[in-house]
Amino acid sequence: MARLFYLWVVWLLSTLADPIPDGVLDMDCHDRSFVIAVDLSFAGDDARFEAVDGTGAYAVAEPYAAKCGYSVTISPLSGRMELRASYFSCHTQTKDDKEFGFSFNLLVRRDGDVAYGLNKTCSPSLEWAPREVCCELNYMEVSMKSEIPCGAGEKDDWNVLGHVNGWSTLGWQVVFQRDEEQLEPMSISDAREQGYMFALTHQRLVFRTPYGQTDSFMAMVDDIPVEVVQATLFSRQRWLVIMVDVAATCSMHQGAYEDSGHLIFRTPGEPYPGPDVARVRVGFNEGLFENGDVVTENGTVQISIPLDAKGGLRKSFVSDDLYEFYTFHLYLEQMFEDEGAETRLRLHRTLSTPMLLRPLFTQNRSIVEERLFQVYLGDVPQDVRLVLLRLNGREALHTNSCSVADITQAAHGHGYLLNVSFDHPAVTQQYYETYGTVQYKLDINYTLSVLPENEPYFYFVSVTALAGPSPPVLDAVCSESGISFSADHRGFGFLWSIVVGSDTLTPELAARRGYKMSNASQKLQLDVPVYSQGFRYKDITLESFSGTFEIHVKDRQTGSVQKSASKTCPFVTSELIVCSTDGTMTVAADLSRMTPGGASPLTSNLLDSSCGPAEADETRALFSFPLNSCGSKVKLRHGNVIYRNEIFYSKNVSEDVDESEGIECTLLLLRLMVQCKYPLEGLHKLFSMYRFESDDPGIGSMGFIKRLAAGISTTPLSGLVTSTIAAPTTPMAGRSRSGAPIRKHLGSNPAVRYVWVSKQSKPHPNAKKG
Ligand SMILES: *[C@@H]1O[C@H](CO)[C@@H](O)[C@H](O)[C@H]1NC(C)=O
Ligand SMILES: *[C@@H]1O[C@H](CO)[C@@H](O)[C@H](O)[C@H]1NC(C)=O
Ligand SMILES: *[C@@H]1O[C@H](CO)[C@@H](O)[C@H](O)[C@H]1NC(C)=O
Ligand SMILES: *[C@@H]1O[C@H](CO)[C@@H](O)[C@H](O)[C@H]1NC(C)=O
Ligand SMILES: *[C@@H]1O[C@H](CO)[C@@H](O)[C@H](O)[C@H]1NC(C)=O
Ligand SMILES: *[C@@H]1O[C@H](CO)[C@@H](O)[C@H](O)[C@H]1NC(C)=O
Ligand SMILES: *[C@@H]1O[C@H](CO)[C@@H](O)[C@H](O)[C@H]1NC(C)=O
Repeated sequence: MARLFYLWVVWLLSTLADPIPDGVLDMDCHDRSFVIAVDLSFAGDDARFEAVDGTGAYAVAEPYAAKCGYSVTISPLSGRMELRASYFSCHTQTKDDKEFGFSFNLLVRRDGDVAYGLNKTCSPSLEWAPREVCCELNYMEVSMKSEIPCGAGEKDDWNVLGHVNGWSTLGWQVVFQRDEEQLEPMSISDAREQGYMFALTHQRLVFRTPYGQTDSFMAMVDDIPVEVVQATLFSRQRWLVIMVDVAATCSMHQGAYEDSGHLIFRTPGEPYPGPDVARVRVGFNEGLFENGDVVTENGTVQISIPLDAKGGLRKSFVSDDLYEFYTFHLYLEQMFEDEGAETRLRLHRTLSTPMLLRPLFTQNRSIVEERLFQVYLGDVPQDVRLVLLRLNGREALHTNSCSVADITQAAHGHGYLLNVSFDHPAVTQQYYETYGTVQYKLDINYTLSVLPENEPYFYFVSVTALAGPSPPVLDAVCSESGISFSADHRGFGFLWSIVVGSDTLTPELAARRGYKMSNASQKLQLDVPVYSQGFRYKDITLESFSGTFEIHVKDRQTGSVQKSASKTCPFVTSELIVCSTDGTMTVAADLSRMTPGGASPLTSNLLDSSCGPAEADETRALFSFPLNSCGSKVKLRHGNVIYRNEIFYSKNVSEDVDESEGIECTLLLLRLMVQCKYPLEGLHKLFSMYRFESDDPGIGSMGFIKRLAAGISTTPLSGLVTSTIAAPTTPMAGRSRSGAPIRKHLGSNPAVRYVWVSKQSKPHPNAKKG
C-alpha cells in the first residue's frame, strides 16, 4: 500500500514538472558506476537525489550514501552536480552482473519540491576482474568473484546463503583485523548495523565500508598514508570452516603542491603484498590518459599534475591579496596480477592546491614621443574583470585621452592595456626649470572584481615620465556677441604666450581692443566681441555673416607657434563696414534717417548712380564694391590711402530740389559717407604690380554728412563722424567738425563701426563693378 502511494506521488510530481531542458542532464555508464550529472543552473545548489527501487525511495545523503555506494559531488566551479552510483549500490537492479538498472528521482526546489523520475540501464563492456577494489570519495568497495557455489534465492540475505549451502548452525560471521590485532567476530547483521554492507550478486561478493570506521585503520605505506580495512568472513560447521578474506587499501594522500607548479599525488605501487603492478591509468573527470605524468619509483606511484592540465578547475579569490587555487578530480586505475588472479583498483580523489598567491604584473610601455602613458596590467585570471579605474583618485572615463583595451594573453589569463595622454587632467605635472622638462606622474588604482561573487580587488601602480611641457589646451565657443576662447595651461602659463595676429596678448592689449580677459591659476579666458580688431568676416548678407577669430600659442623662449585655435561663428547683421585685403568694401547700413524720408533703400546708390545695393530691406541696404570703382575718391593722407564713397538717393533728391526749393535753395541733404583706410606701407603691391592687395584689412568708417541738394559739397571730408578706435564701452556718437552733432544710426547690436576683413575674403558676388 505504501509503495503504491509512493508511486502515485512520484507519478503526480513528475507529471506536474516541466520536462528537463536538453543539455542540463547527462546519464552515463562508466566502467563500474552510473554517472548522473546535472547543471546547477537548472537544479540549484540544494537539489537532491533519491534512489528508487520496488520498496520505495531513499534519500541519497550521508551516512546512507557511503554505506550504499553513492557519491555526490557539487562543484560550483564546473557548475555541475554529480551522482556516482556503484553498479552494486543498494538500490541497483542487476541481471547476471551484466546489466544494471538504476532508477532515481532528481528533486529540484522550485516553489515546492519538483521530482523528476529517471532511470538508466547500463551493460558494462569491461569484464569483471576476479577482485575489484574501489576507493571512492566516501567509501571503499571490494567485489570479488564468489567461489561459494550458490543456487537461486534471495542473494542479498546472507543467512539464506548459509542455508543454501547447508551451513546454518552458526551462520556467517565477520571478523576485522586492525593492525596485528584480531577483533571479536560479529554477525553479518550486527556488522550491517555498524555501517558495513555485504551483498551477494549473481557471481560476486560485495563488501563496502565508509571511511573512518572503527574497524579500519590508518597506516603508512612507503610514507604514504593509507586507510586499510581487512575482514574475514567465515562460517564454521563442525570440522569445516569456510573463510573469505576481503581487504582494501586506499591511499589517503591529499596531494602535495610543489613550487615547480605541480600538484603531486602518491599512492602505493604495491598495496597488497607480492603482486606485480601491471598497469596504471590516470585521468581527470574520468577521461583517462595513460602513463602521462605517472612515475613509479621505489614502489610508489607518483602522479604529477601541471596546474594547467586539462580538466582542472581554478578559482580566484581575494584575501588582501589576490589568490587562486586549482581543483582536480583525479581518477586512477591500477591493475595487479597475483598468481594469475587479477586485482583492479580504482581510485577517485578530489585534489586541491593550497591558496596560491596570484601576482599580477604591470609593464610600463609609455611612449614619450607620443606623450602617452601606456601601462599593461597582465596575468589577470579569466574570472577577474576590471570594473573601475581611478587615476590619481579620480574615476576615469573612456575619453580621447584615456582608453582601456582587454587583451587576451596566450597562456595565462588576460590583460588590460591602458592609454592615458600626458595631457589628461588626472596626470600630475612638475616642472624642472633647470632642465626645461616636466615630470608627468600617473597613479593608477585598478578596481578588479572576482566573478561570480564580485569580490573587489585593488591593484595600484604609479608611473612617471619626463617630457617637455605641453602647450595649453585651447578651446573656443561661439556666443551671441563674440567668441570665447580658453587656454588651459595647467600652471605653466609662464612658458607660453598667446598671440593675436602679430601682437602678444597682454592685459593692456586686451583692454585697448575691448577683449575681456581673465587669467586664473590654470586657465586663461578670453572673450572677443564681434567687430573687435582681429576678426575676419565672410558671407555677409543683410541677415547674417560669419566672423572668424584666431589665436596662437607661442613658446615664449623660442617664439615658435605651438598651437592655434581658429573659430568661426555666425552673427546677425545689423550695420557694418568691411574693408577687405583684396580691395572690396562691404557696407550694411541703415538708411532710414536719410532724406528723403520713406524712400526705399533699394533705390539708393553710390557716387556712381549706376552702382546700387546688392541687397536691401525696408531700412537697410548692403553694398559691396571694389574700392576704386563706383565713383570712389582716393586720397593720400598721413601715410594712409583712403577710399571714400557716399550712399544717397540721387533721383528723388533732384526732383525735390527742382520742384519745391529751386536752385538757390540751400537744402541740406543727409548722405552716408563710407570709407576704407589702408596704411600705405601695407600696399606695396598696388604700386609695384598695380594690383590691390593689402597686408591687413583696412579700417572702415561711415557717417552721415550734409550736402547741398544741388550736389555742391559744403561739408569738408573731416565732417565724417569718426573715431579711430571704437571700444564697445564708448558711446556710439560722433560730432561733425562743422559743429552739428550727428548721431549715427546703429542697430542695438553690434555697437561697432570699424571692422576688418581677412585677406582670404572674396568680393561680394553681388557687387557692381564700376
Ligand atoms: C525509464 O524511463 C523511461 C523514459 O525515461 C520510461 O519510459 C520507463 O518506463 C522507465 N522505466 C522504469 C522502470 O521506470
Ligand atoms: C627512491 O629511493 C632512492 C634510494 O633510497 C632515493 O634516492 C630516491 O630519491 C627515491 N625516489 C623517490 C621518488 O622517492
Ligand atoms: C594605445 O595607444 C597605442 C599607440 O598609440 C595604440 O596603438 C593603441 O591602439 C591604443 N590603445 C587603446 C586601447 O586605445
Ligand atoms: C584604491 O582604491 C580603493 C577604493 O577607493 C582604496 O580603498 C584604496 O586605498 C586605493 N589604493 C591606493 C593605493 O590608493
Ligand atoms: C616608463 O616608460 C617611459 C618610456 O619608456 C620612461 O621614460 C619612464 O621613465 C618609465 N617610468 C617608470 C616609472 O618606469
Ligand atoms: C597668465 O598667468 C600666468 C601666471 O599664472 C602668466 O605667466 C601668464 O603670462 C598670464 N598670461 C597672460 C596672457 O597674461
Ligand atoms: C521718389 O520720391 C517719391 C516721393 O517724393 C516717391 O513716391 C517715390 O517712391 C520715390 N522713388 C523711389 C524710387 O523711391
